[in-house]
Amino acid sequence: MLLLAIETSCDETAAAVVRDGCEMLSSVVSSQIAIHAEFGGVVPEIASRKHLEMISPVISQALREASIAMSDIEGIAVTRGPGLSGALLVGFSAAKAIAAARQIPFVGVHHIEGHIFAAFLEQKVAFPFLALVVSGGHTHLYHVEGFGRYTTLGRTIDDAAGEAFDKSAKIMGMPYPGGALIDKMAGSGDPQAVRLPRPLLHDGTLKFSFSGLKTALLQHVARHPLTLPSQEANDLCASFQQAVCDVLTAKTETAIRQTGTRHLVVAGGVACNSCLRSRMSELCCKMGIGLSIPHPSLCGDNAAMLAVPGDYYLSNGLNSDMTQDVTATWDMDLIKGLPA
Ligand code: KG4
Ligand code: ZN
Repeated sequence: MLLLAIETSCDETAAAVVRDGCEMLSSVVSSQIAIHAEFGGVVPEIASRKHLEMISPVISQALREASIAMSDIEGIAVTRGPGLSGALLVGFSAAKAIAAARQIPFVGVHHIEGHIFAAFLEQKVAFPFLALVVSGGHTHLYHVEGFGRYTTLGRTIDDAAGEAFDKSAKIMGMPYPGGALIDKMAGSGDPQAVRLPRPLLHDGTLKFSFSGLKTALLQHVARHPLTLPSQEANDLCASFQQAVCDVLTAKTETAIRQTGTRHLVVAGGVACNSCLRSRMSELCCKMGIGLSIPHPSLCGDNAAMLAVPGDYYLSNGLNSDMTQDVTATWDMDLIKGLPA
């Protein structure tokens, strides 16, 4: 099927054209980051208004770049949740309107399900596999048995990894969102310079916790005021990043051992992190299992990733109907795919 995909769950207005759930013909992402940076975080009302302004031009650009006419599109995959309700509503309403006008099916897809299957745009992976999702709102380990068949093995009990990166960056005086900047500065820093905690590292569970690490960083900055740029700041970034990666790597190793999985998929915005990418490839090499971490352009929010599960659902008649609404919260374990 030739699908149009639409994503507006947070601060990126995105649209893509994807053939058969694997061939990406275009992927357009219009970021609102510069607008929200002024406020130190995403302002939901501003996000909705900006999505409203950008949704039509972004869809038009995605069609143009794919050299596809709207009349060629056979179905639509759109983020239904989780995310900011007002932001989700813009993309979801656009999808419904196009589906109704063109008399084609549409399906509401879980945002994190999209992140996991972004890897399939580069190379298909055999089921079952283990997925580590690290984004602004999620730090989850999932056992993935098929499309729509997910079991949460472990998750954060407080902050998500991306949230920890962004909040820590803010404490260090960096602009929002600071994750990518911490990664860059850490490249010139010493990861052993500052001793920081590794929360829940040896508790034997698959639970994550990052709020204590962020508090330790806050206390360090209170004792040793930071100037930017400086070697001290680079060292603190490297030490923080190392602590996060130590925990993510150790818990993922435990999950690999527990499940006996043969393949790991790492997904979400934090999967852009250079330290995490190399630690995960070392881990999978050591454990002798396969690894998929999409190109950084597919790790962050985009619409193409939704077309992978979207194509599966629409091809199997699992369409959404016009009475369906967006959902700000949505447990992945409750998604119903086809039985095995
Ligand atoms: O998946 P994503 O684009 O949006 C959500 O669904 O949340 O993830 C965004 C998160 C932000 O917290 C951002 O700071 C983080 O991903 N991020 C990074 C890097 N690039 C983006 N964190 C660490 N290192 C990076 N290079
Ligand atoms: Zn995301």
